[in-house]
Amino acid sequence: MIVLGIETSCDETAAAVVSSDGVIIAETVLSQLEQHRPFGGVVPEIAARAHLEYADAVVHKTMEKAGLDFHELDAVAATAGPGLIGGVIIGIMTAKAIAASSNLPFLAINHMEGHALSARLKKNDKVKFPYLLLLISGGHCQLQIVEGCGNYKRLGTTTDDALGEAYDKIAKMLGIGYPGGPAVEAAAKKGDASRFNLPRPMKGRIGCDFSFSGLKTAVRQIALDLPEGPLLKTDIADLCAGFQMAAGDVLADRINHALDIFISEHPTSNSLVLAGGVASNQFIRKRIQILADERSIELITPPNSLCTDNGAMIAWAAIERIHDVGIDKARDNLNFKPRPRWPLDPIAPKAAFAGIKA
Ligand code: KG4
Ligand code: ZN
Repeated sequence: MIVLGIETSCDETAAAVVSSDGVIIAETVLSQLEQHRPFGGVVPEIAARAHLEYADAVVHKTMEKAGLDFHELDAVAATAGPGLIGGVIIGIMTAKAIAASSNLPFLAINHMEGHALSARLKKNDKVKFPYLLLLISGGHCQLQIVEGCGNYKRLGTTTDDALGEAYDKIAKMLGIGYPGGPAVEAAAKKGDASRFNLPRPMKGRIGCDFSFSGLKTAVRQIALDLPEGPLLKTDIADLCAGFQMAAGDVLADRINHALDIFISEHPTSNSLVLAGGVASNQFIRKRIQILADERSIELITPPNSLCTDNGAMIAWAAIERIHDVGIDKARDNLNFKPRPRWPLDPIAPKAAFAGIKA
């Protein structure tokens, strides 16, 4: 089975052709970094216009690299949410047009599901269900038990900023460029993480939720309180290193709690999977590896190209669904509406409507 996946939910216009045996036949990722850089963050209107301008070319280039025509595909999939609505509309309309004109099944994919299953996109030795997932991206920071494709149980989420968002905002306030994650990681390499006393929000609290806005504000306050004049390179490096250390400590604490729950529910499982853009951060990976070693847990991290947004994870999520339920049940209607908000684990109707009279 061969599936085309299209991803346009944030600032990458991406497409990939993936086969059901876990091979990425061709892929293209067109980043919009240059367009957003002057603003220090993603500007939704600029993102939507760029997706509109380049989506067709990205898809065509990918098909050309794969050496395939649309009619040789088995399905076409696109991110249908959550994400910036302008980009999501363009991605799913492109996929629907290909599906309609080439008589192919269309699959609407939850972007977080793409991240959640990305570690299984490989030819051999696929990570087995169930596993504990830490999804750390620009839009999300969640701990989920992944029991299977389409079967997720959320243990924790952020009560304010996502971790990637905190990285981006700190980079902006320190004036070290965009995208913030790689800039903070690079600056932190020469920094002294112990120079500033930064908080570890949520550390030690019951549960598995996160909060990063207090940490971000603490970094800002320290930067403002430093002697007047432009920040020195060493100040920036020390602040970045301190921030990463604090964020890593918080992640480790929250994962520790989540592992207790995961292992009590699944005593024979021991896999922890990282996903999302921040999972490509080497410092964060190493910090979590220490915890995994302490707890004899296997840590699985996809390659960097699968951590940040890409079309291959969208095609793969479609392949997983088709594999599980067959194409007739897996395919979505061409009138599927984009979903700017779309939880991975919809709250059980009973809980959601508790107390509301019919
Ligand atoms: O998964 P992703 O590409 O898009 C979303 O779904 O949000 O994640 C993008 C986020 C951005 O906030 C970016 O700054 C962050 O991932 N990121 C990093 C690194 N590379 C990307 N954060 C920390 N360290 C990195 N090396
Ligand atoms: Zn993402």
